[in-house]
Amino acid sequence: MIQNTAVIILAAGKGTRMKSSVPKVLHKIAGKAMVNHVIDACPGAEITVVVGPNMPEVEAAVTPHKTVIQKNQNGTGDAAKSAKDALADFDGFVFIINGDLPLIQTETLENLCHAAQETGLAILGFEADDPHGYGRLVTSGGHVAEIIEEKDCSDDQRAITLCNAGAYCAQGDQLFQWLDQLSSDNAQGEYYLTDMVAIAAKDNVQCAYAVADELEVMGVNSRSQLADAEYVMQARLRAQAMGHGVTMIDPESVYLSTDTIFGQDVTIEPNVFIGTGVSVRSGTTIHAFSHIEGTVIGENASVGPFARLRPNSKIGNDVTVGNFIEVNRSEFKDGSKSKHMSYIGDAVIGEKTNIGAGTVFANYDGFNKQDTHVGKGVFVGSNSTIVAPVTVGDDAIIGAGSTITKDVEADAMAISRGEEKSIAGKATDYRKKKSA
Ligand code: UD1
Ligand code: CA
Repeated sequence: MIQNTAVIILAAGKGTRMKSSVPKVLHKIAGKAMVNHVIDACPGAEITVVVGPNMPEVEAAVTPHKTVIQKNQNGTGDAAKSAKDALADFDGFVFIINGDLPLIQTETLENLCHAAQETGLAILGFEADDPHGYGRLVTSGGHVAEIIEEKDCSDDQRAITLCNAGAYCAQGDQLFQWLDQLSSDNAQGEYYLTDMVAIAAKDNVQCAYAVADELEVMGVNSRSQLADAEYVMQARLRAQAMGHGVTMIDPESVYLSTDTIFGQDVTIEPNVFIGTGVSVRSGTTIHAFSHIEGTVIGENASVGPFARLRPNSKIGNDVTVGNFIEVNRSEFKDGSKSKHMSYIGDAVIGEKTNIGAGTVFANYDGFNKQDTHVGKGVFVGSNSTIVAPVTVGDDAIIGAGSTITKDVEADAMAISRGEEKSIAGKATDYRKKKSA
């Protein structure tokens, strides 16, 4: 139903209530900008995003979709009108959707379109627990007679709980004629898109409505509403993950991104944060308090507790990345291990290689980042520093406490540390001297 329709997404508002230098619709929910959530709810539709004059970031975020500029941010009606030329050749159903509805779902938009097919115009409504701030739907005979904004409501109207969700659907050829008739004669001196309902009524087009769940259509105007929307989205993502066969010991403490991909029988312990670009294959356990972004994790791996996996990393099958390990732009090939307190940056760790406790890959010289290649079957002793760029050959051994600055050949043993001295009786002498 969303296919063969056009969608105008309103994203030009200043978002004053967010108190932010970032345009409102770019604030993220589960790692994805709000405007992109709306776009993704409209698969197959021809999308036009209305942006403000100085919003190159919004234009970039919605690429490859079409954008039009609303010159003066003069209300939602004016914003919708800005898309007129872009849709001049389109004569199907047109949706107009506020860009701050990150939780809206395709099925709901389909219901809205069905309603619009009955009369030529429909609006999405919801029963609000607390209608404050929303436009109220004044209904009569099963249709919406008009929409009154909170600031323009009489006391009686303010008591109405059926509210405007901010999504509309209309037959394209009439829509822009109605928008041309909007006026800014209201409490906010703005062109309200919502006035189109009363204007359409003059053309004998009644406004049908579909009803959505309040949690799905909450508009995000402030940081606090952003957090509310995040809460709902996280619950949705966790339920989806568990539905795919992921075990979560304490789901509410696990944070996911919309693009997180899980295989079956993944177990996630409490207090795990998963940012964007993460996939976790089957049988893997993410232990408590791990923070993971931009990483592909193979099968039957073990990550954490307290692991930090940073973007552009790859963890192979049967790999252990244990406690207090930071991995940055690095790959652990199958069966390799780093179990305790290490930093692995710009490195490739070969199959079945063991990185000892406290090993640090010194990948940055204060100016440039350099790469390290560690072969397969290598044993790196504890507390070693590998100063990049370095290549360590297969099956080599690095002695504990070494600082490695030169390449190590395959099968070689490299040790670099101060010579150990042991002076007989010296400990006893020292104690005597100190207690005298
Ligand atoms: C709007 C509706 C209200 C509804 C609510 C649902 C109007 C007049 N009011 O109010 O009835 O209950 O949404 O959440 O439409 N925008 C522009 N250009 C502008 C102004 C806004 O593109 O000049 C965009 C914003 O970026 C935003 C959307 O339109 O994505 C809605 O604007 P917003 O100011 O949030 O409207 P509300 O006051 O929430
Ligand atoms: Ca809003």
